[in-house]
Amino acid sequence: RGKRAFIAGIADDNGYGWAIAKSLAAAGAEILVGTWVPALNIFETSLRRGKFDESRVLPDGSLMEITKVYPLDAVFDSLEDVPEDIKTNKRYAGSSKWTVSEVAESVKEDFGSIDILVHSLANGPEVTKPLLETSRRGYLAAISASSYSYVSLLKHFLPIMNPGGSSISLTYIASERIIPGYGGGMSSAKAALESDTRVLAFEAGRKQKVRVNTISAGPLRSRAAKAIGFIDMMIDYSIANAPLQRELSADEVGNTAAFLASPLASAITGAVIYVDNGLNAMGVGV
Ligand code: NAI
Repeated sequence: RGKRAFIAGIADDNGYGWAIAKSLAAAGAEILVGTWVPALNIFETSLRRGKFDESRVLPDGSLMEITKVYPLDAVFDSLEDVPEDIKTNKRYAGSSKWTVSEVAESVKEDFGSIDILVHSLANGPEVTKPLLETSRRGYLAAISASSYSYVSLLKHFLPIMNPGGSSISLTYIASERIIPGYGGGMSSAKAALESDTRVLAFEAGRKQKVRVNTISAGPLRSRAAKAIGFIDMMIDYSIANAPLQRELSADEVGNTAAFLASPLASAITGAVIYVDNGLNAMGVGV
């Protein structure tokens, strides 16, 4: 049997989640997707109307198939956590069972188990504000959507992950080096995600023989990155200063995820893997 992957955080064909889905599909995995509830309608409509067909093409010429798209809001663990204004919000009321525990339950009912879990989502409502100007609410929201969302996903999916399985998230160098502009507590959220990667690797490894790694990715012009507002500058900076002076392609992150999910990476767990043309290794720009 081929492997089955659940990828949380795909809402278009521009982000890392999509590229990871493609690399896993090219390697023969079955693809299940978790899409943020407010983005679900447009994503499903675009898929159905063939808007993504060009970017669905795999190396062998076939089109990536997404077996099922689940609505997901990773800041809520169960229905009891959902406040009334969200429950009755027009964009949420049209879908159901989108809290993390309910999505895991649905995947279990539909497919029984998965082999690969991917967390490719982040959200920081005050990301454009410097940390010194970030509110408590904004900081905690960044941590909730970008860090605890991963703890929660792994917690709820681990019981249906096959031994030998692999879990992957996406992080950014702003966790360990100063990147002015990556604000709102997002740098803190990535630091938490990387630390959690190590602790979760221990716990999931001992409990279920599941490996847990995170990819520290270089800059990509995704929807989320454009919202931060400095992505073109970061791409130019990387091309000017990284050991490899070239633009990073999302596929390169996708291929690393496929490697990490494969038996080729069977002894790699608790690791932060840099896929950034080597920029992380530089001490000064030249
Ligand atoms: P993206 O916009 O393609 O992906 C972010 C996804 O998160 C979107 O699909 C959005 O709908 C979803 N999302 C937001 N809040 C959610 C919630 N509460 N529940 C469920 N889904 C939610 O952008 P990108 O850049 O591909 O982001 C994927 C991951 O890659 C993120 O963790 C990001 O921090 C990371 N990353 C991105 C870099 C970049 O330059 N684009 C660099 C390094 C890491």
